[in-house]
Amino acid sequence: MTVCVLHVAAEMYPLLKTGGLADVVGALPPAQSQLGTDARVILPAFPAVLAGLSGVEPVADLGHAFGIGDVRLERGVLEPHGVVVYVVRADVFYDRPGNPYLDASHHPYADSDRRFALLSWAAARVATGADAGWTPHVVHAHDWHAGLAPAYLRAFERASGRPRVPSVMTVHNLAYQGVFPAAHYGVLQLPPDFYAVEGLEFYGHVSFLKAGLYYAERITTVSPTYAREIQTQHHGAGLHGLLQTRSHDISGILNGVDYSIWNPSTDTTIDTRYTAAKPAGKAKCKTALQARMGLEQNDGALLFGVVSRLTEQKGLDLLLSAIPDIVQRGGQLAVLGTGDPALETGMKNAAAAHPGAVAVELGFDETLSHSIIAGSDIVMVPSRFEPCGLTQLYALAYGSLPLVHRVGGLADTVVDSSLENLADERATGFVFETFDRAGIVAAIRRAFALKARRTEWKAVTRRAMEQNFGWEAAALQYDAVYRGLLA
Ligand code: ADP
Ligand code: GLC
Repeated sequence: MTVCVLHVAAEMYPLLKTGGLADVVGALPPAQSQLGTDARVILPAFPAVLAGLSGVEPVADLGHAFGIGDVRLERGVLEPHGVVVYVVRADVFYDRPGNPYLDASHHPYADSDRRFALLSWAAARVATGADAGWTPHVVHAHDWHAGLAPAYLRAFERASGRPRVPSVMTVHNLAYQGVFPAAHYGVLQLPPDFYAVEGLEFYGHVSFLKAGLYYAERITTVSPTYAREIQTQHHGAGLHGLLQTRSHDISGILNGVDYSIWNPSTDTTIDTRYTAAKPAGKAKCKTALQARMGLEQNDGALLFGVVSRLTEQKGLDLLLSAIPDIVQRGGQLAVLGTGDPALETGMKNAAAAHPGAVAVELGFDETLSHSIIAGSDIVMVPSRFEPCGLTQLYALAYGSLPLVHRVGGLADTVVDSSLENLADERATGFVFETFDRAGIVAAIRRAFALKARRTEWKAVTRRAMEQNFGWEAAALQYDAVYRGLLA
């Protein structure tokens, strides 16, 4: 039987991206199609989404909802893989300057509860027949933006008496929960009794993520280690109690890499292409990156790269404290990121203090992100917590050794260059245990030490490039989750 699944999400690469969620929603459906699953996606009709789809056509008039009129369901196709994408047309909600979550002056939109409730409600409408030609067997909700979809499926079931389509809730990041004032509950078009501890109430508020975690039949998250961590008080962000009660329904499925986009042998955005067998082009990428970022042209300088949202999660305050330890040893640092003003200022100050050795570019730049991943010797991901993390996987593919904190998906994907792991031919990067200056500095020192041993450095970079984190493994595991639901 062909399983039909509808992914519900706020972003999808290459249509619209602010982080790893988009990469996943862009890559998982084509990987699922390869396995014979009919995977479609529903997104809000943001202008960039509409602009990137071909053959957009009307599907259904959804009428009046959440205080706005003229809500329409449309359907288009995303090439090159031909993924069918439904869009929710509601220009009052989605046709705005700014990104999906923040307005042009970086403030959260005041009506995001209604904006994302509409997305989930429209997904539940598709699951109950809004498209006469296609109905999913499973609804797959991603992050809090889609958290209400499982709740609407239950509500529609109760109202119609027809059995609901089951749903899967994937947590990409438990830190973002979509929590809104209880006073707004009335506009969500949900039964009054859903606002309860056994429901979507969360400390006197409405929590979209809790709705998904409570009402979905299965819960997944994006790495095995994070699946365990979120059931602990330390990493559970207030939801560990609920997650513990659902322990048997939770699985950790590691994200993959889309090697059609992140592959140094075919990447047309980098200076020179290269492979594990013929790595010479990597040195040219490094020279080009140094020139692009205004770093001193020096082949021998160990170049550390960062491509990241600048938020508390990513641990870059710890990196700031360790910059002298990089620079004093003759190393360089290239940073691309955007986010918290305090971290942006910290990065700018570091660049000003170490001209030629530290370079920072504030902003979101897809091409530069590839240049940094390719041109760096080391890619740093010192996150406080990390559900999966994709940049360390991209770094491995480009033979740029990841330097990471041993947490979440970072712990599942990078093997430290300890003497034991070098001897066992397992090392692929640098991993530190304790989130403090001593921890990260020791890892930085191991990086310099390994670089000084040419043969071993070569062996580790080669092993890094040979790792396979393709999407097929994840697609197979999601397939098993869906089939478990339908059995
Ligand atoms: P998260 O989703 O928490 O931000 P991930 O590592 O899963 O972390 O994914 C981040 C994605 O966003 C990667 O594709 C990374 O290259 C990209 N990215 C992050 N910041 C930037 C930036 N400033 N410019 C371009 N790409 C960025
Ligand atoms: C989130 C997480 C990140 C993960 C990404 C995609 O944004 O912070 O660790 O890789 O989602 O699942």
